Amino acid sequence: MARRALDEVRHSRRCFALARAYPGLPWSAGAIPELAQERPQQPGPDEGDAWARLVRGSLLEGCLGEGLAASVAGEASRRASGPVVRETLAVISEDEGRHAELAWDIIAFAPERGGGKARQALRQALDALETRRTPALPNIPGVDESFLETNGVLPQPELGRLMDECVQRTRERAGACLEPGRTWWPVPIARAS
Ligand SMILES: [Fe+2]
Repeated sequence: MARRALDEVRHSRRCFALARAYPGLPWSAGAIPELAQERPQQPGPDEGDAWARLVRGSLLEGCLGEGLAASVAGEASRRASGPVVRETLAVISEDEGRHAELAWDIIAFAPERGGGKARQALRQALDALETRRTPALPNIPGVDESFLETNGVLPQPELGRLMDECVQRTRERAGACLEPGRTWWPVPIARAS
C-alpha cells in the first residue's frame, strides 16, 4: 500500500484513540454507504482526457484539499491545550503537507510533459478553484466553542480564513507553472550512503 494511504490509516487510528479518551468508550469507523453508491455521471467537456483528470484531481484534491488539511491541522495543533491532541494534529499536518507536495510535483511537470492539453486542463482547474467551498463543521449541540478549540477543532470563521489563504496560494503557485518558458526538472532523490 502506498505510504500516503498508510498515513491516512495512521491518522484514523490516532483520531479514534483520541475520541476514546473523552468518554472512555471505544469508537471506530462505521459503514460508509456513500462508497457503495455510484458517483453522479456528469461528464464535463474534458471528460475522458487523462491529463485533464490528473491535473484537476491533483490541483483540487491534492494541492488545495491536502494543503488545506495541513494548514487546518497545523493551526489546530497550535491552539490545542493537551499535548496528545497537539502532537496528533502536528503529525497529521506534516503528513498532509507532504501529500500536497506530491500533487504539486504533478502540477509542476504537467504543462511541460502534457503539452497544450495539460495546460488547458490546468487553466480549467484554476477556474474551478473558485467553486470550492469551506468545509462546514458539524453542529455539536451543547459543546462550547472554546472547548472545541482547545481540543483541536477550529471555529468556522478560522476555517474560512485558512481556506481563502489556501485558494490564494494555490492560484499563485499553479499560475506560475503556466508561465511561458518554465521548465520542470525532476529532483533526484537523495540516497543514504
Ligand atoms: Fe492526505
